[in-house]
Amino acid sequence: MARILITSALPYINGIKHLGNLVGSQLPADLYARFQRGRGNEVMFICATDEHGTPAELAAAKAGKPVAEYCAEMHEVQAGLAAGYRLSFDHFGRSSSQRNHALTQHFAGRLADAGLISEVSEKQVYSNADGRFLPDRYIEGTCPNCGYDKARGDQCENCTKQLDPTDLINPRSAISGSTDLEVRETKHLFLRQSAMRDELNTWIDSKTDWPILTTSIAKKWLNDGDGLQDRGITRDLDWGIPVKKGDQDWPGMEGKVFYVWFDAPIEYIAATAEWADANGLDEDAWLRWWRTDKGADDVRYVEFMGKDNVPFHTLSFPSTILGSGEPWKLVDYIKSFNYLNYDGGQFSTSQGRGVFMDQALSILPADYWRWWLLSHAPESSDSEFTWENFQASVNKDLADVLGNFVSRITKFCRSKFGEAVPEGTYGAAEEALIAEITPRIRAYEANMEAMEVRKSATELRAIWVAGNEYLQSAAPWSTFKEDPAKAAAQVRLGLNLIRLYAVLSAPFIPDASAVMLEAMKTDDTAWPDDVAAALDVLKPGHAFTVPEVMFRKIADEERADWQQKFAGVRA
Ligand code: 2FM
Ligand code: ZN
Repeated sequence: MARILITSALPYINGIKHLGNLVGSQLPADLYARFQRGRGNEVMFICATDEHGTPAELAAAKAGKPVAEYCAEMHEVQAGLAAGYRLSFDHFGRSSSQRNHALTQHFAGRLADAGLISEVSEKQVYSNADGRFLPDRYIEGTCPNCGYDKARGDQCENCTKQLDPTDLINPRSAISGSTDLEVRETKHLFLRQSAMRDELNTWIDSKTDWPILTTSIAKKWLNDGDGLQDRGITRDLDWGIPVKKGDQDWPGMEGKVFYVWFDAPIEYIAATAEWADANGLDEDAWLRWWRTDKGADDVRYVEFMGKDNVPFHTLSFPSTILGSGEPWKLVDYIKSFNYLNYDGGQFSTSQGRGVFMDQALSILPADYWRWWLLSHAPESSDSEFTWENFQASVNKDLADVLGNFVSRITKFCRSKFGEAVPEGTYGAAEEALIAEITPRIRAYEANMEAMEVRKSATELRAIWVAGNEYLQSAAPWSTFKEDPAKAAAQVRLGLNLIRLYAVLSAPFIPDASAVMLEAMKTDDTAWPDDVAAALDVLKPGHAFTVPEVMFRKIADEERADWQQKFAGVRA
């Protein structure tokens, strides 16, 4: 049994994610986790909310809540949505957890001891009224370029010019509106990534099997200079992990916190410790996933993320791990995704454009979305959600092909043979079907193993289609008139195919899979290593029931309604 550690990029806490976010990390990670569990492997699937940083503070302020309270609430909302989409995390943690505080401070201490952290003095805007340093985007003023009076210290939203806070005319604090600002010296910690360039290069060069999207981004940052600049890992914010060296204070760093991108990936580890705590397990229970001196040397660690996250996972986080000098597990494979666009434009959280996770579930169950999103995952290039395409896919793949197959077989059997698998010996047509789907099932496995999401969906659909075509040409409803025994064998195969489909389809559409298994009154979910044997699991006499309609079709009017409803921006 293999041991597989799977992490999905951590969604930011500041609001509900859109479908583009979902398909860029959490959903494909879930697909892979479910597949690996289905194959009988031991899986640890981890995700968490990414709770620190300016966006979290701003969102809390907008909601009029203390940031800790806002994060606690939004964590529950996101956990509820994850459950709604059937994301099968072993643990959904919080980057603000005590475990992450301790681990982040531990790593910082190790990096400092290894000489990989430098202290740099910088000039930064301080607000006397607010009693704090202001990050660039917390400073507002008039744009020197276009005269827009709500330009931010990092960029003017109106003319897009990149700015420095000192460029602004009449600068004021975005928090209090105060103009009592001054420039002060402040010290920050920098992670000396540049000192690790060779080690990182060698490590990335050794990853010859990584997807091109991942390595090309990593190499670009590694070799173009910019990316491997030393990175500031501290901020002047109230909310975050206090800067400490292990459990010791860090002189000169009082009142500062670690930068959100320093502590977020460490939460992958911390969330696994949170999992152990939540289950009353000891330290070794989580260390065996993360420390190669504690058993993690035989773990395969796979990360899922959108392409914008790749530099942090190929350079920054590995610098933390390698620089610690301790035997922590490094990632073995990074599966990254392009972007999903929305109906001719981009999904946008800040502009509220597109369909968000809560909205999608309010109109259709999770499996509909899972199937469309995964079968159109933005792998080799960006892809686009359109309502027409969504309607066509659902109606054809799910309703016409899979749903219809299940309904026809079960109803026909009930009407002619009753609600139990009939007797019948498979003949040439049944053997031919087995011969046809066997290589397809092997290809499906290989694609799932390789995390080729779209190709896996294509293969799965072809396996459903093969069953449908078999049924169409076997036509037990006609055979029954002259040769009821032959019709019985055809139906027996059909019922067994339903169980097989439930097993194969579970990673994509877990709810429908559960309905199929329940209808077939079986909990035998053994992976079909031998397809002929898998189609002989339900023996003559085995009882079943006819399930409710598994997938309903989307009507044109409904589709048009949704298209209109979700055309504008979310409030
Ligand atoms: O881009 C994002 O949505 C980040 N919150 C991802 C963090 S992934 C990890 F490193 F924590
Ligand atoms: Zn401007």
